[in-house]
Amino acid sequence: MEKNFKRTTVTAALPYANGPVHIGHLAGVYVPSDIYVRYLRLKGKDVLFIGGSDEHGVPVTIRARKEGITVQEVVDRYHYLIKDSFEKFGISFDIYSRTTSKTHHKLASDFFRKLYDEGKFVQQTTEQFYDEETKEFLTDRNIRGECPRCHAADAYGDQCEKCGATLSPEELINPYNAVNGNPLVKKQTSHWYLPLDQHQEWLEKWILEEHKEWRPNVYGQCKSWLDGGLKPRAVTRDLNWGIPVPVEGAEGKVLYVWFDAPIGYISNTKELCDAHPELGSWETWWKDPDTRLVHFIGKDNIVFHCIVFPAMLKAHGDYILADNVPSNEFLNLENDKISTSRNWAVWLNEYLVDMPGRQDELRYTLTANAPETKDNNFTWKNYQDCCNNELVAIYGNFVNRALQLTQKYYDGVVPACGEQTDYDKETLAEFADVKTKVESLLENFKFRDAQKEAMNLARIGNKYIADMEPWKVIKTDPERVKTIIYISLQLTANLAIAFEPFLPFSSQRLREMICMEEFSWESLGSTELLPAGKQLAKPSLLFTKIEDDVIQAQLDKLEATKKANEEASYRAKDIKETVTYEDFQKLDIRVGTVLECERVPKMKKLLKFLIDDGLDKRTIISGISQFYEPEQLVGKQVLFIANLAPRAFKNGLVSEGMILSAENFDETISVTTVEHPVKPGSQVL
Ligand code: 2FM
Ligand code: ZN
Repeated sequence: MEKNFKRTTVTAALPYANGPVHIGHLAGVYVPSDIYVRYLRLKGKDVLFIGGSDEHGVPVTIRARKEGITVQEVVDRYHYLIKDSFEKFGISFDIYSRTTSKTHHKLASDFFRKLYDEGKFVQQTTEQFYDEETKEFLTDRNIRGECPRCHAADAYGDQCEKCGATLSPEELINPYNAVNGNPLVKKQTSHWYLPLDQHQEWLEKWILEEHKEWRPNVYGQCKSWLDGGLKPRAVTRDLNWGIPVPVEGAEGKVLYVWFDAPIGYISNTKELCDAHPELGSWETWWKDPDTRLVHFIGKDNIVFHCIVFPAMLKAHGDYILADNVPSNEFLNLENDKISTSRNWAVWLNEYLVDMPGRQDELRYTLTANAPETKDNNFTWKNYQDCCNNELVAIYGNFVNRALQLTQKYYDGVVPACGEQTDYDKETLAEFADVKTKVESLLENFKFRDAQKEAMNLARIGNKYIADMEPWKVIKTDPERVKTIIYISLQLTANLAIAFEPFLPFSSQRLREMICMEEFSWESLGSTELLPAGKQLAKPSLLFTKIEDDVIQAQLDKLEATKKANEEASYRAKDIKETVTYEDFQKLDIRVGTVLECERVPKMKKLLKFLIDDGLDKRTIISGISQFYEPEQLVGKQVLFIANLAPRAFKNGLVSEGMILSAENFDETISVTTVEHPVKPGSQVL
């Protein structure tokens, strides 16, 4: 049976203060959590919405080094930028604080100390990579070296960006300090671990048996962690940025960022409640079993919120555990993974400048494409469609018609309702039905479908007014038009309520136009929201069309980013190791004339050349068919390696050499040729 909670604590993942936030953050965590909280508030529920910046960990220190400023400067800069973006997008946090706050440092430190004192950690000594010159242990991200899989020269200690392999620093060939290039040695260091293995049993029961209702992606990820067997996890690090480990002899060590960050939810609640006694004690929001705790997160945070943090809370005692952890998958941008390092993102601070006053348009598009069950994609074209074909053409159009007709026929005063036809009654009834549907969807964290239902209300309104044609009926039956407009206005007021959680800015503008000061979720479906005789304000358009050139400007911006990335990666290709002249002379490079060239059946990329090499004819296979039609190459003189050992292909073809081609920075290929015709077989010196 569903438990009846008295209040809800809603948390949204604390973003790292190492850069601005982008549409992926908004779609994955902040818009859905905001919709949920606004809905609960509209229902008159007791709810706190807790946010803040995650200001510890390695990413902020890397950013500081890159920009040549202090870590404090980095977190200050991005904390305020992020906070401002959230405010401007209407993310209605009750508090947005930071993990560098005094309250947090004390609470997190005390939390650790209690677990330490009660023997809830195990201490282990391991060997870690150490830079003898700077006298520091390095974290995975600060270690680079040759990738053991693809041999890229600069893989990270946790991942190779070239081949995507997940790595551990031990696997890197010749690891070095990413910051100064120093070689690294192994040195012993001691840390405290949370023995998750000791928590396995209750976690299995709690998640796998008692929370089968969690989203399949969340449940599935937890199950696979649990099935794999939990292992102790270090909760301290050798780092000079973070919360010092409050234990003697732990100098130079700080709490691991993933230990302190979730405690940040608690600290921020404390900071809020301490400043607002009317909210009651912070402990009520975290310890009373009548409080429901919900964490909104992205999929890379699942293990920390479903396994590690609950284990910390349980080890501490007194705390409630999450009732649900709605986690989204990832959002791509124009079919490509959003990436901060490649600048492949729509940054919220830039959007606010480029698209002033259009926060709801982005909120709407992101919810319409919410990556709730699988990764999803944001495209500017789809954004334009959502705005023009839905917000403008359906919602905006209906509201505008209803309000303009009220102005035109009744000077903006709500007319009295006459007798209602069956169609009138059915239309009103549909609104009442949708309330139940939207509620159940929102309560099950299905925000995309819930917004669809709200838009359906606008569709119903649009259809109603189009079917009723009051602009025609006014000529024959003006009394009837009063009823039509009365009903249309009630539908309009309903839309202002239904859309409030999703599109708070336009909903507020609409409420101002219809002078609706008070409203609640419970009144959704009511047919008497605007009484006859009420004077409405002058209407203006709720949404305006987005023109093609505005979209094109955004696409151009992305295109420029792509070009810049390609050029940067081209420049980044290091010159290979030096070879001796003797080594070079071992290669026999010659000019050959292409006699024949054809595609290779079933091998899409390949072209088969017959080359006159001056002595004989030889076959050379080359993977350049994407870039040439075979006939373009016949008759051309190309450079080829004449003494390369023959190479056999799967289908039995043998390549007797290699044609030399140049790879452009955009990865297109161009074969090399000679400036003046020469005799086939001429050597390249
Ligand atoms: O993944 C991230 O961006 C983390 N900073 C999220 C932390 S959530 C919580 F634990 F604070
Ligand atoms: Zn690799």
